[in-house]
Amino acid sequence: MTQLKDSHIAPFGNVSAENLCRIAEMHPTPFYLYDEAIIVQKCRDVLSMPNAFGLTARYAMKANSGKALLQLIGAQGLMLDCSTLNEVRRARQAGIAFDRMMLTSQEVPLGDDRKDLESMLLEGLAYNACSIAQLQHAADFAVKNKIPLSIRINPGVGAGESVTRNTGDKYSSFGIHLANMDKITALIHEKKLTINQVHVHIGSGGDPEMWRDNIDRELEITEKYFPDAETVNLGGGFKEARMPDETAADIQELGYYAKERFEAFHRRTGRRLHMGIEPGTYIVANSGYLVTSVVDEKWSGPTGFEFIIIDAGMEANTRPLLYGSRHPFYVVSKAGKLLSSEYDLNTMKHEVDYRVVVGRCCESGDSQSLDYQGHIIPRKMADPDIGDYVIIGGVGAYCSAMSLINYNSHIQAAEVLLRPDGRIQLIRRRQTLEQMLVNEIDLEK
Ligand SMILES: Cc1ncc(COP(=O)(O)O)c(C=O)c1O
Repeated sequence: MTQLKDSHIAPFGNVSAENLCRIAEMHPTPFYLYDEAIIVQKCRDVLSMPNAFGLTARYAMKANSGKALLQLIGAQGLMLDCSTLNEVRRARQAGIAFDRMMLTSQEVPLGDDRKDLESMLLEGLAYNACSIAQLQHAADFAVKNKIPLSIRINPGVGAGESVTRNTGDKYSSFGIHLANMDKITALIHEKKLTINQVHVHIGSGGDPEMWRDNIDRELEITEKYFPDAETVNLGGGFKEARMPDETAADIQELGYYAKERFEAFHRRTGRRLHMGIEPGTYIVANSGYLVTSVVDEKWSGPTGFEFIIIDAGMEANTRPLLYGSRHPFYVVSKAGKLLSSEYDLNTMKHEVDYRVVVGRCCESGDSQSLDYQGHIIPRKMADPDIGDYVIIGGVGAYCSAMSLINYNSHIQAAEVLLRPDGRIQLIRRRQTLEQMLVNEIDLEK
């Protein structure tokens, strides 16, 4: 069993029961808390991934697109993977230059959006065409302005933590499916397009073996169809271990494998391919905590459950309901004592039993412990009093960014950053009721 340091709630990072209470005194619950030290370490990990002929790591900003986090991650040397024009605009407002971003999107920009995209391309935004229509729309402009394009291929084989996160097989609409290669090569020749990058993202959080297999598949595609490509972008999707019984992808090992395959490709073809990766989850997931207070308790009888009702739920962390994802629970008393940690359940002195953590939404799926079919799964944890804190870990990726904001008129929670020197910085204010209603219009008389 893991040894927890001092009053640290988890074996990684700097969050302790004491600093949680200190932060909760300054910022009322619920709020998201991010541990900067973890993000910085994760950025270093991905930037040191072994490679043969150079590496570009892009942070997939959909995972968490807050301004301060983009600035923090950008300052570590990562570029950005953006999935909408608005993500590009948002990152630009955070001070990230267009030539540090690539757009990989389901959108087909028309009208003013298309003009905007073209001026971004002139300023260095990389464009990853993900459909035949996108490629057709960009072709003439790209050729006229000597802008090389990237192309996203759907290889027909993918892997995700759930079927809804597999982006590489026939059930997925992402990228141009291999079945269309004749059409694509004809278009490339007809327009005299330069395709300088081949991109495949097979899915999120799938089996690392599948990520490994994709390297060979993508190199084969590059060799067969893309003689001008200089970069092979292997996408994101590295599995992160949010729970103690999960195993994260070994990105060093994956890097060594990729290096060996890129070197073999070089021996075979004489081409030195640059490697691209674009992790989102891996960079931020375990930096994030949703800090909540216990507001009530209920019991559904001898054959039922003990419910702990907290002041945030599915509107702030939708992943359990959406995917059946598990997140670690930490219980801290209002006096700042760690009562239980997911990472040390056996040695906690306080009474630890199976309980169900639920939010306040009028929705029976508003539980933080569900399986993928929506059944409630009680979890081992201490018995908190009303007013104590229940902290949900592993929420740095796809939680704040993918929240069901304003369901039941709950307002969007604040976001707070724990700096490595112990400073606490508010990075997003809590929404107000006025902000929630600002765009609503009265019924005409
Ligand atoms: C094109 C692309 N790249 C990268 C990512 C990041 O994936 P993850 O957060 O699993 O690393 C995604 C996620 O959906 C994606 O669609």
